Amino acid sequence: MSSGLLGIEDLNRSEIEAILTRARDFQSIQHQPVKRLDVLRGRTIVNLFYEASTRTRTSFEIAAKRLGADAVSITASGSSVSKGESLVDTLNTLAAMRPDAIVMRHSASGAPHFLARHLPTPIINAGDGTHEHPTQALLDARTILDRRGTLEGIRVAIIGDIAHSRVARSNIYLLAKFGADIVLCGPAPLLPPELASIAPGVTLTDDIRDAIRSADVIMMLRVQLERQHEAAFPASEYFQFYGLRLEHLDLAHPDVIVMHPGPINRGREIASEVADSQRSVILNQVENGVAVRMSVLERILSN
Ligand code: NCD
Repeated sequence: MSSGLLGIEDLNRSEIEAILTRARDFQSIQHQPVKRLDVLRGRTIVNLFYEASTRTRTSFEIAAKRLGADAVSITASGSSVSKGESLVDTLNTLAAMRPDAIVMRHSASGAPHFLARHLPTPIINAGDGTHEHPTQALLDARTILDRRGTLEGIRVAIIGDIAHSRVARSNIYLLAKFGADIVLCGPAPLLPPELASIAPGVTLTDDIRDAIRSADVIMMLRVQLERQHEAAFPASEYFQFYGLRLEHLDLAHPDVIVMHPGPINRGREIASEVADSQRSVILNQVENGVAVRMSVLERILSN
């Protein structure tokens, strides 16, 4: 991993465990009045976001600063990307300023992998198209471990727009490496059958009740209208069939937790009463995002 972090698919169990264990150390710092360490003092991290982001970008920036590094964030709309500069030229320009790592989000699947082959700077993938979002899966795993203590043998229902979700893919890779049972659920056009074979332990259903039955974890996904070229689903109809409502939780394990990477669309994929319920760990996920990204940055930059 010295060269960066492109996807969960490339990591083995012990590398993932090391990141998650170190993230625990960083969890407690989030509650102290002074939240700054000196581990990465003098290091510079550039966040380059070609797609909208609230949580991921902010938490990478906060994570870098809490480790004592300098962090700079750039969005494509406010940069020379809007003047027609190519991806490689933009990245070469940033690399010439000698940052120690570049955190990057891009709408093209594989964009960070391409750049990692052309640049000496470690690249951290903050979401590439419909492909992977590795730090999201790591913070999700940290959140599940905090609540359930294990990933082994737990039943995780991932529900929604699976087809366009890099969050789903990274979570499938991670959870499968730890022997979880993964049920993917969504309407047929958003549920690609080939996902059943990307990792062991994956099954598919288009029935939300089947997916939720006995689930230890319910992970809801947003309908990614920005990635859909076909006609979208009407919001009310989607909610009727695939929206998570309080009554669904009775089917699940009594201690079920409800997750969502955000941004949530209330009344579309999740009812407000569920998002705000005791079962919801959505804000715990956000909180863990900082600790997990601190762990990832430390691992990559202290090498
Ligand atoms: C997700 C993303 O961008 O892939 N959000 C996030 O990073 N927390 C999911 C989404 O946009 O729906």
